[in-house]
Amino acid sequence: MSFLEKHGKIERNVSLLFVFSLVAVLIGGIVEIAPLFYVKNTIEKVEGMRPYTPLELAGRDIYIREGCYVCHSQMIRPFRDEVERYGHYSLAAESMYDHPFQWGSKRTGPDLARVGGRYSDEWHVQHMINPQSVVPESIMPSYAFLASADLAKSNIAAHLKANKMVGVPYTEAMIENALADLEAQANPDADTSGLEERYAKISIRDFDGNPAKVTEMDALVAYLQMLGTLVDLKAYQQNENLR
Ligand code: HEC
Repeated sequence: MSFLEKHGKIERNVSLLFVFSLVAVLIGGIVEIAPLFYVKNTIEKVEGMRPYTPLELAGRDIYIREGCYVCHSQMIRPFRDEVERYGHYSLAAESMYDHPFQWGSKRTGPDLARVGGRYSDEWHVQHMINPQSVVPESIMPSYAFLASADLAKSNIAAHLKANKMVGVPYTEAMIENALADLEAQANPDADTSGLEERYAKISIRDFDGNPAKVTEMDALVAYLQMLGTLVDLKAYQQNENLR
């Protein structure tokens, strides 16, 4: 019996064909999947990543609550046009403390992965209150109410704890001091030595220009100003062409 005749047998017998197809798919599947069980981590470690400060985390919640991700991505792809416009392409580690991640799937507005430090706080506040006052052709809606809304902060320690449960390395001290740290980051006159010890590369100031209270605007601007600033990307300029 020639090889083709043998193969014909398989092709004419549905059950046999099914069994052999299954075996073929299984082998392929195992070859692809099994190695993943033996690598400790699929995310390359990078210097500089730290968990969000309580104020940034609260700002991130507002970002999610207001659906900013519907119009904005936080994922710079490794293509020349994106890298020239937004900066170094996103590294996997840069969103490793995001639960859930904010990569987004649509860009009605620009990518925000590296917007931190690109504008002043005043610009952000003005832009949130009335986007068209700084970018006349903007179709971004106004979020003026954030400037007067008190930031809900009483549950912030629990929020850090929940993040710790899913793998964010918040320490006991970070959780214990969460509320105090949140208030201190928005108050340049506060004693911030503990806060600075717990969180590297942190900006401490009154983000919304209103020292009387900590508003949702404070939190959101603190979050936006941190985006993309934690990792020193000069060490990761691997691909000359994409710079
Ligand atoms: C309906 C879509 C839409 C929504 C929702 C939206 N934006 Fe925008 N956003 C835009 C557009 C369009 C621009 C570009 C024009 C401009 O700067 O206003 C923009 C620009 C921006 C910029 C300036 C980025 C840059 O690099 O110039 C920031 C920061 C920003 N948005 C933050 C936010 C935040 C925070 C939220 C949620 C509170 C939000 N946006 C919600 C559409 C949107």
